[in-house]
Amino acid sequence: MRKVCQICLMVVLIPLLCWVEPGDGIGANWGTQSSHPLPPETVVRMLVDNRIQKVKLFDADYGALRALSKSGIQVMVGIPNDLLATMATSTKAADKWVSKNVTAHLSNSVDIRYVAVGNEPFLATYNGSFLRTTYPALQNIQNALVKAGLGNRVKVTVPQNADVYESSTTVPSGGDFRADIHDYIFQITKFLNDNGSPFTVNIYPFISLYIDSNFPVEYAFFDGQATPVNDGGTTYTNMFDANYDTLVWALQKNGFPNMGIIVGEIGWPSDGDRNGNNEYAQRFMQGFMTRVAGGKGTPMRQGPLEAYLFSLIDEDEKSIQPGNFERHWGVFYYDGQPKYSLNLGTTTQGALVPARDLKYLQRKWCVLKDNVKMDDPSIAQSVSYACALGDCTSLGYGTSCGSLDAEQNVSYAFNSYFQKNNQLDEACKFPNVSTITKDDPSTGTCRFGIMIEPYYGGAHKTLGSGGFGAGLVLLLLTVL
Ligand SMILES: *[C@@H]1O[C@H](CO)[C@@H](O)[C@H](O)[C@H]1NC(C)=O
Ligand SMILES: *[C@@H]1O[C@H](CO)[C@@H](O)[C@H](O)[C@H]1NC(C)=O
Ligand SMILES: *[C@@H]1O[C@H](CO)[C@@H](O)[C@H](O)[C@H]1NC(C)=O
Ligand SMILES: *[C@@H]1O[C@H](CO)[C@@H](O)[C@H](O)[C@H]1NC(C)=O
Repeated sequence: MRKVCQICLMVVLIPLLCWVEPGDGIGANWGTQSSHPLPPETVVRMLVDNRIQKVKLFDADYGALRALSKSGIQVMVGIPNDLLATMATSTKAADKWVSKNVTAHLSNSVDIRYVAVGNEPFLATYNGSFLRTTYPALQNIQNALVKAGLGNRVKVTVPQNADVYESSTTVPSGGDFRADIHDYIFQITKFLNDNGSPFTVNIYPFISLYIDSNFPVEYAFFDGQATPVNDGGTTYTNMFDANYDTLVWALQKNGFPNMGIIVGEIGWPSDGDRNGNNEYAQRFMQGFMTRVAGGKGTPMRQGPLEAYLFSLIDEDEKSIQPGNFERHWGVFYYDGQPKYSLNLGTTTQGALVPARDLKYLQRKWCVLKDNVKMDDPSIAQSVSYACALGDCTSLGYGTSCGSLDAEQNVSYAFNSYFQKNNQLDEACKFPNVSTITKDDPSTGTCRFGIMIEPYYGGAHKTLGSGGFGAGLVLLLLTVL
């Protein structure tokens, strides 16, 4: 790509291609499973302010893509797994997807570089549901891109979870694609390689620690004091390097020694688990960013790393089936405020720049009433209702609100439900046991949040106009 850029600079043909050289800088994942997402313009401003040069989306969200227009940020758009079957069986659907979700935005100066076909489609929890559809969907999308004249400009890829490869010897040099899905992965990888597309992988030392209590904690970090792993003279002091190089070996073994690798997701959650806290998250992220900023790769691939942080912002509506930590992957809280100090190495001030111009709801909270007996039968019911529809993932052993007493626990649950419902009076009417207060109940590391004003996809910010705002988006979509 460097050569392409030099050539196009010399010929001054399409200077658009030369904004930023791929491979440099850091990217971030922008997920939108939130009850109160920040306005897309606010998020794009955050990316620009923090000099995050690349963004990865999980779909082709119209509002996000519109806001990215003329931002100079490179974009990876995603095709969710539930669209794979359609894309696999219908070339017409694939053509239409590319036309609406790539071509139209390119014409509006959105710098789309990649289409991610599916997201971790071979994850064990999907029971093989996407094993057969991913490859034909990939082919159809690639063909659609070529038909649209974008074959060289927009590349396809398939973000994979790191367990699609394994090592027979426990050290990286034993790396190969996982035996039970070898043929599926090989087919996809060959197709990507033939089309000059990269292998995208998501690597999570935190998950290794989460599922295996014997995992050496220090080995998860870049500055850790873990006993090094010796692989034929190459020493590995952290899991990221070893995992990445297992992929390098697997690619090499299967005949793709020079294939590009993108780390599609890398991060550490800050809450929801005893190993999910700001201290560990800061340590992991800073270690990784120092590595990226230094332009240093892994023992097997010495060059700069291309990676997307997971994630930019917390998402309070993610499924917690994998664990309570799922809603806490952000480098920023839901409201775009930094969680910890992190030097991305991209700005002169060396600190995260928060979101600007936020509008919060009033300073009020819903809490347990004074003098309510804790054995009041309505409490347990109310709490489970509040937690099911609110977010109680910061309660529990080792979490940010893990040391609350029983009464505070109840208040936390009530308040979460109340805030998610935009502080509506009706959302603090747990029968006879709740009340609204103006005294902030936050204590220690436990934040009793206040929500930001809801965003309805346009200039209409009051509650009543939700329907109108959604209608406006629909109208814009059909005009496009
Ligand atoms: C474009 O992407 C959006 C968001 O992922 C999706 O809902 C829509 O169906 C896509 N459009 C087409 C024509 O496939
Ligand atoms: C996968 O299989 C298990 C056991 O057969 C089942 O409980 C689960 O619902 C399945 N998941 C999906 C996504 O199909
Ligand atoms: C508070 O709630 C959490 C999560 O439900 C629970 O694990 C913890 O034991 C509760 N603490 C007290 C003191 O009741
Ligand atoms: C609430 O309290 C009032 C008065 O103490 C009582 O009459 C009523 O039954 C209570 N309601 C519920 C749902 O517990």
